[in-house]
Amino acid sequence: MPASSDSATFWEHHYTHLDAQWGTGPNAVLAELVADLAPSPARALDLGCGHGGDAIWLATRGWDVTAVDVSATALRRVVSGAEASGVADRIHPERHDLSQTFPAGEFDLVAASYFHSPVEIPRAHVLRRATASVAPGGLLIVVEHASVAPWSWQAGEDVHFPTPDEVLAGLRIGDDWHVERCHAPERTATGPQGQTATVTENVLALRRTR
Ligand SMILES: C[S@@+](CC[C@H](N)C(=O)[O-])C[C@H]1O[C@@H](n2cnc3c(N)ncnc32)[C@H](O)[C@@H]1O
Repeated sequence: MPASSDSATFWEHHYTHLDAQWGTGPNAVLAELVADLAPSPARALDLGCGHGGDAIWLATRGWDVTAVDVSATALRRVVSGAEASGVADRIHPERHDLSQTFPAGEFDLVAASYFHSPVEIPRAHVLRRATASVAPGGLLIVVEHASVAPWSWQAGEDVHFPTPDEVLAGLRIGDDWHVERCHAPERTATGPQGQTATVTENVLALRRTR
């Protein structure tokens, strides 16, 4: 990727000032979906991995994980976290601005947890590219905000969120896919200061059948 981009600058600044412990646990929705739908560990790709909560959790369960982010600081922390958890050999950090480059290879699980950014990213394009990296039999999991949490950078803004069906339509998948989940459940989320709120999320889990 180019040495610098708006995304890289924003997220590098963000992680430099963020508590290194934030986001080091797995997202509950992802953990539940993997346990239900992909119980046998194989090759995983985590898009926008942040501090690596999902990636390290997957590696501790035997997955071989390519962990991708645009922030070098975030990726350094993923490596430290993986070493502390004894799974450094199963985590492969790759720095990409996903609007420009994408990891090579195919994967049995591709996850995009809260792949959002105040710096515009071509999300639909990146997620469509992600479908092409799922191996036959593999799973694509997308978990994303469908409402604004009070602690979000979008608080107070009039934001339009797509419905899960709109996200699904944007992926333009064909007949080679089975929709395992496509819904927008509510849950109680915890913010950076420990505050809680009810939020809605889009949850998609799609299996490539061949
Ligand atoms: C809202 S955070 C979510 C982090 C993590 N997946 C989680 O669930 O806690 C979005 C992540 O996407 C990354 N990101 C944003 N734009 C990106 C881009 N263009 N290419 C790669 N990663 C990007 C950010 O650095 C950040 O780690």
